[in-house]
Amino acid sequence: MKALFKKHIEHRVTQAKKLLEEEHLDCLFIESGFPEYYYLDDQPTFFKANPHFNFFCPDPGQGHLLKITKDSEKPILFYYIPDDFWHEVSSLKGEFWEDFFNIKIFNDTEKAWKEAEEPNKQCAVVSPNSEMARKHFCQPASSTLLSKLHWIRSQKSDYEIECIRLANKKAAKGHLRARDCFLDGASEWTLFMEYLLASDQREGEIPYNSIVALGKNSAILHYQFPKKDGSGSTFLIDAGARVHGYCSDITRTYVQNSVDTEYKEILARVESNQKALCAMVSPGVDYVAIHRASYQMVAQILIDFNLFSGSLEEALAAKVPFHFYPHGIGHPLGIQVHDVGAKQNDSSGTTINQPTDFPYLRTLRTIQAQDVLTIEPGFYFIPLLLEQLKKNESISKKVNWAMIEKFSQYGGIRIEDNVVALKSGSDNLTRPFLP
Ligand code: GLY
Ligand code: MN
Ligand code: MN
Repeated sequence: MKALFKKHIEHRVTQAKKLLEEEHLDCLFIESGFPEYYYLDDQPTFFKANPHFNFFCPDPGQGHLLKITKDSEKPILFYYIPDDFWHEVSSLKGEFWEDFFNIKIFNDTEKAWKEAEEPNKQCAVVSPNSEMARKHFCQPASSTLLSKLHWIRSQKSDYEIECIRLANKKAAKGHLRARDCFLDGASEWTLFMEYLLASDQREGEIPYNSIVALGKNSAILHYQFPKKDGSGSTFLIDAGARVHGYCSDITRTYVQNSVDTEYKEILARVESNQKALCAMVSPGVDYVAIHRASYQMVAQILIDFNLFSGSLEEALAAKVPFHFYPHGIGHPLGIQVHDVGAKQNDSSGTTINQPTDFPYLRTLRTIQAQDVLTIEPGFYFIPLLLEQLKKNESISKKVNWAMIEKFSQYGGIRIEDNVVALKSGSDNLTRPFLP
């Protein structure tokens, strides 16, 4: 890990220095930030560091300040260890990244800024709260500078890819345990607890709200309240993990033997479609084209499984697949689960227009080597969207409502892997751990 990080930080600092030149700045400051508090409460939310801070420095702690100047060899890390007897505070443990920073320990942010400030230079700060920075001759980063940082974050270094691979390995342990518990008849609550235990995470650490849904609940796309009672014949789990701040984002759908054969066949088709879509990931490919292919595959499922008796053209013209697959094919993945720069056309932040037929597609970019993306097609029986489909009388006549009624108890299907684009083609970071 140390050798990978060395290359990562050297390259990232070189890129940051180039940005300083371009933006006519002398110094870039990045604060890791402090926890937010609930309204009228003394309870903090679970702390997540500023992602730009973790892009340079993996320490997960609060209150740190990073300084990169045009001429400094190593970034200076003002490392916050407060005099605090209420909480466990950050500590340096000889981690693989420590040698690559000039570390100065301090117990007070004001003092750190006083030492770090450059009154006669042009300085920008990337921080969730730039109040302190402003007092120390530093302006919040411009939107152009932020867009440029987002752009360079899109193409992952080998170190970052390794972190995401390890985050897949970690999450896969939880997925496998949850699968086994589902087959034994566990409740959603137990499945979630077993997921956390087996993937070695507490709830606040997980990269996003895990979706642990049985039966009908798996048609609720961001289902958030796992129930303590009952078991199910179908199970959708969308759950990830973090390693050095980098996320995995994985979905699997499992069924009990008792499920209708045709539903099992639809599941197998979504799985084979998903693999074909993963194989499309390659530099130069338009991500929207992968989404379009996934959408057409849904139309084909509707026809092949006699859920829709019209033609493929008719299904597409009437947007029938949208009612069974309303979300996009995926998104970039990194320190943020829905990572930055997804709709940027270039480094300065020009955005790509949202295609009118795909309002919820999160990623519009052309794929570049070292991009890490999710590929997550789905097929669901969502009551609200089916009601809307029913209102289109001429189309509704061609929909097999009896079959939909039968399958609605199963909820929905999604399969999601994390894929990295290589110089040509791609590598699947999930399947080695979760075939
Ligand atoms: N888990 C959120 C997503 O798949 O985008
Ligand atoms: Mn997901
Ligand atoms: Mn995802």
